Amino acid sequence: MKVIEEEQPVMVMEGPWNPVDVIRDVVGGGQEDPFYVMDLGEVVERYHHWKEMMPRVEPFYAVKCNDDKLLVSTLAALGAGFDCASKAELQLVTGLGVRPERIIFANPAKPASHLRWAAAAGVSCVTFDSETELLKTKQHMPQARLVIRIRCDASSAQCPLGIKFGCDPVSEAPRLLKLAAVLGLTVVGVSFHVGSGARETAVYGRALQYARDLFEAGEAAGHRMGLLDVGGGFPGNSGTCIREVSAVINAALETHFPSHSVRVIAEPGRYFAAAAYTLAAQIHATRELPAKTAEDGTLEKHTMYFINDGVYGSFNCVLYDHQQVVAEPLEPTSECSLPCSVWGPSCDALDCVLPATLLPPRMAGDWLVFRDMGAYTLPVASPFNGFPTPRVRHVVDKRLWSILKDLWPLTGTHFSFDGVPAPQTPPSSPNPLDTPVFVECALK
Ligand SMILES: Cc1ncc(COP(=O)(O)O)c(C=O)c1O
Repeated sequence: MKVIEEEQPVMVMEGPWNPVDVIRDVVGGGQEDPFYVMDLGEVVERYHHWKEMMPRVEPFYAVKCNDDKLLVSTLAALGAGFDCASKAELQLVTGLGVRPERIIFANPAKPASHLRWAAAAGVSCVTFDSETELLKTKQHMPQARLVIRIRCDASSAQCPLGIKFGCDPVSEAPRLLKLAAVLGLTVVGVSFHVGSGARETAVYGRALQYARDLFEAGEAAGHRMGLLDVGGGFPGNSGTCIREVSAVINAALETHFPSHSVRVIAEPGRYFAAAAYTLAAQIHATRELPAKTAEDGTLEKHTMYFINDGVYGSFNCVLYDHQQVVAEPLEPTSECSLPCSVWGPSCDALDCVLPATLLPPRMAGDWLVFRDMGAYTLPVASPFNGFPTPRVRHVVDKRLWSILKDLWPLTGTHFSFDGVPAPQTPPSSPNPLDTPVFVECALK
């Protein structure tokens, strides 16, 4: 097992706390660069909630969403599986001690070298949606357990994916299943992704109907179909819930896959990552625009705030993930909110975080807080113009820490209590992540 080289110790908290209090503490300690506060308990709670809502569906976390090693190793310790998109993600997950059977290489268009690496590492479950991917798999991973990815799009989604991936379940998939059989390849199941941040839940019912038909087509072609992968698309921001989508999935499973001999997995990304991360960014410059006369004759002011993280950093999510971010002042104030815009630190005019919002008057040196910033932010961020990408301050409740500490690939010095590093403790047993531990049981 590789021990993570954490730059910042995990903060172990006793008693109630919230991310904004932690941000105030860190800022009070003289911090100037942007940073995240990551609540590990949020991830554990969400895992627990998932298991309650969809006991039949095993979550395989989509690493692309946020490859923070502590997030990934926490999910590994809880017993989650993983959806990897590339060799590097496979290396991250296997390097943490996760066994290949708990991994799906769910990129339907893989570079051959990545496929060969997966095969050598013992990862055999891979997705495909085309004839050429079947031929490539035949050459580089003939023992693969293939999963056909079909297209079934939600009527609306934050990031639709169907335009790029998924064969047509009616006009293409049956032919591909037959071709796989002719090539001597093994197809074990069906997968789909309805779109990330899906705004329709009924789509899972339609997709499961297609999957049922294709289980039959697969069996008729000589495959033993036993794996159903319902993909991602689940909401993750604070205040959202998977209750409604779970009800749709559970009912569709009951209708189309009543036999529990079919293994059901999902590939949630933002569900686990989004709400656990709160970003703090500092205002380093302000600019007042000349006041304009509004229609009612009043003078309208507009302030530009420049902060030290932007669309080339964490806020790439505004461009790529179509996120609507919300800025909150770190310090509460009774002053009225006024029209303003929030800009990133680079010299590019595209680097605009919020073109039009309302904030109470702020000054250079003040901090802004952005919640729900864990999904599709950090892995994409770059230090363009020389501005560093934010570091993460992981925080965990002491009770949870006492359960998880031996399951993480961390040693005693990686933890701090009230800012004081913990005494050195010996590394735990050889490969603790091999044994899923249902931490939620210990928390009840
Ligand atoms: C193949 C695959 N699985 C899972 C996910 C995660 O999706 P979400 O974050 O919507 O759960 C993605 C996101 O792009 C994906 O491409």
